[in-house]
Amino acid sequence: MEINWFYFSDTNTPPGEIEEILTRKNHTLNSVLRLEDLHQHIIQDDKAILFIKAITIYNVYDLCREISVMYPHVYIVLIVPDNMENVKKAMHAGASDILRTSYEFEDLLKVIVQAEKYMTHRAKKEKLYSPSLLKSDSRVISICSTKGGAGRTTLIVNFATALAKKGKKVAVIDADLQFGDIAMYYDLKPKRTIYEWVKEGYGYTHSAIDQYMSKHECGLYVLAAPPRPEFFEIIKEEHIKAAIDECKKMFDVILIDTSAYLSEIHLSCLKKSDEILILTSNDLPALRNSKLFIDTLESLNLKGNTKLILNRQTKLKTLEPQKIEGILGMSIYTVIPSQESVVNPSVNQGTPFVLTHAKTPVAKAIFSLIDKLFIEDNHVLEAKKKNKRNFFIRK
Ligand SMILES: Nc1ncnc2c1ncn2[C@@H]1O[C@H](COP(=O)(O)OP(=O)(O)OP(=O)(O)O)[C@@H](O)[C@H]1O
Ligand SMILES: [Mg+2]
Repeated sequence: MEINWFYFSDTNTPPGEIEEILTRKNHTLNSVLRLEDLHQHIIQDDKAILFIKAITIYNVYDLCREISVMYPHVYIVLIVPDNMENVKKAMHAGASDILRTSYEFEDLLKVIVQAEKYMTHRAKKEKLYSPSLLKSDSRVISICSTKGGAGRTTLIVNFATALAKKGKKVAVIDADLQFGDIAMYYDLKPKRTIYEWVKEGYGYTHSAIDQYMSKHECGLYVLAAPPRPEFFEIIKEEHIKAAIDECKKMFDVILIDTSAYLSEIHLSCLKKSDEILILTSNDLPALRNSKLFIDTLESLNLKGNTKLILNRQTKLKTLEPQKIEGILGMSIYTVIPSQESVVNPSVNQGTPFVLTHAKTPVAKAIFSLIDKLFIEDNHVLEAKKKNKRNFFIRK
């Protein structure tokens, strides 16, 4: 692979052996004399390796920190005066490697080989996730409700788990950005979340989004909500859209948990979804709000993608399903029974019930929802496609 090598010294010290070794390896070293000139060389170059030697004008660590913040994609080798060598400081300043001013030839060679190895490894990963490998058949499904506690997170967590167990590559995006608790429902303690991705990874092709996701033992990946509610403010529509697009490069199914209110961010999720599952329950306040929500989706031309799911259904519920369909003006796609003895412990323990209680009515309802969405609907779709093809042949 083609690597672009750069060298900057604030004293204009020539690169010496660095250039010699690189030339021997058939590489070209570009010496940059002014810091201002560095910008145009490395701003969009994700194959750049930069040696920085700063002794007089700049503090070497401060300079490194500035450059690494502005160009996090650049591999920086920091050349530090012997008396200032401090690996921890270099690490905190964002350096990829460190070299003492009085380096031995062997040390320099090691640094160069290591840099080459890292860049090759990174390029391989990028290739793996390149847009040309974009999964054309990935499906984005959002789950929404107009009332808190309707069961969105419970449904998405179990739905995603069951799909992952069937061998699908599944991503779950927690778009309930202030109070999302998907990670908790999986008993995961995310080190990185959508917040870190927006701050560090967004916009850089080498920072694949899965590096910011937490993997559950069943194989699925969770892009968790920010660690603190107030952090949600930095996440904008363009970020969530990009997060969905990034996930589409790697996953078969992307499931999005929204929230009980409709914001611009959630509308962006719905617009990018192939299916919108509306979760409601058998009580008048919930149905009234669901009706308003469905009307809103209709006015936004999104109703065509919606499917209605009735959660927490019990025999004691007063309204007949037909009556509910009449109120909402759409048919019920699936009914999920209420089963607190299974759902509550599963939430409290962070273990999806489809794994531990697969034979219970509530788990079976999830499995049949998957069959309906992924098998029956696919057949209908295939048949439609086939009819369309036949139609063209006949003509
Ligand atoms: N089918 C069900 N049977 C019994 N209990 C259920 C069922 N679905 C959800 N619950 C319970 O309802 C409560 C709320 O569920 P959940 O957290 O999934 O709702 P939510 O819509 O994500 O809420 P929020 O708006 O707070 O994010 C949980 O305690 C869960 O155990
Ligand atoms: Mg929730």
